[in-house]
Amino acid sequence: MKIIMLGAPGAGKGTQAKMIADKYAVPHVSTGDIFRANIKEGTELGKEAKTYMDKGLLVPDELTVKILLDRVAKEDCANGYVLDGFPRTIPQAEVLDKALTELGDKIDYAINVDVPDENIVKRMGGRRACLACGATYHIEHIPPKTEGICDRCGKELILRDDDKPETVMNRLQVYHDQTQPLIDFYNAKGVLKEVDGTVDMKDVFNAIVAILG
Ligand code: AP5
Ligand code: MG
Repeated sequence: MKIIMLGAPGAGKGTQAKMIADKYAVPHVSTGDIFRANIKEGTELGKEAKTYMDKGLLVPDELTVKILLDRVAKEDCANGYVLDGFPRTIPQAEVLDKALTELGDKIDYAINVDVPDENIVKRMGGRRACLACGATYHIEHIPPKTEGICDRCGKELILRDDDKPETVMNRLQVYHDQTQPLIDFYNAKGVLKEVDGTVDMKDVFNAIVAILG
């Protein structure tokens, strides 16, 4: 099963993708997480990606596409995956489509987690992330058991550099300009599914499970 998560920054793509990955035993592939891991390790890729991410801009397509195609070519992706944060532009979607077609394969579902802009800024300021294992929390909606500490791995939780309000506004603008057109792109392919992302995260997940079966 090959699934794409669509939605604005902070819509809950990562939160839902992790639950899908657990239930359906497929890897969760997040380009944002891959970039953040590289920033943490101080790699050249990380240094380059950070200059874009901190401004709320997209990392250039050539760089992003290569990383993604390398990742999904790994053996653990043979039976499927859930993509979170990729594709984010029409050219990225076209490259993925071409790569899959060459393998006689296709995307099964593109799930759009719909959350209006008003809700987004509020969510982002409350998000806390674990850079060690990728878990995310929200100080009000999904708090960790011990403040500032990851439930899953015990490491410290941080506020992401790009979750500052002014950067969030840029990310939303970039989303509307470059990523939202993917909704029509996947609708035209007949694989688009919409879920309401404003309800409780368990209810969002139940709606997704009803789609995936
Ligand atoms: P990325 O890491 O993908 O960030 P994003 O798309 O901006 O999305 P987020 O991770 O911020 O949000 P999310 O939808 O995963 O929400 P979450 O589940 O955490 O990308 C970061 C940057 O990397 C980009 O800006 C770009 O520069 C670069 N990049 C990455 N991929 C790229 C690509 N393909 N091309 C080019 N550049 C790329 O939830 C948000 C918060 O809300 C959390 O606190 C969560 O606990 C809470 N929450 C979740 N669900 C609910 C709910 N139902 N109710 C209440 N709270 C909820
Ligand atoms: Mg995310």
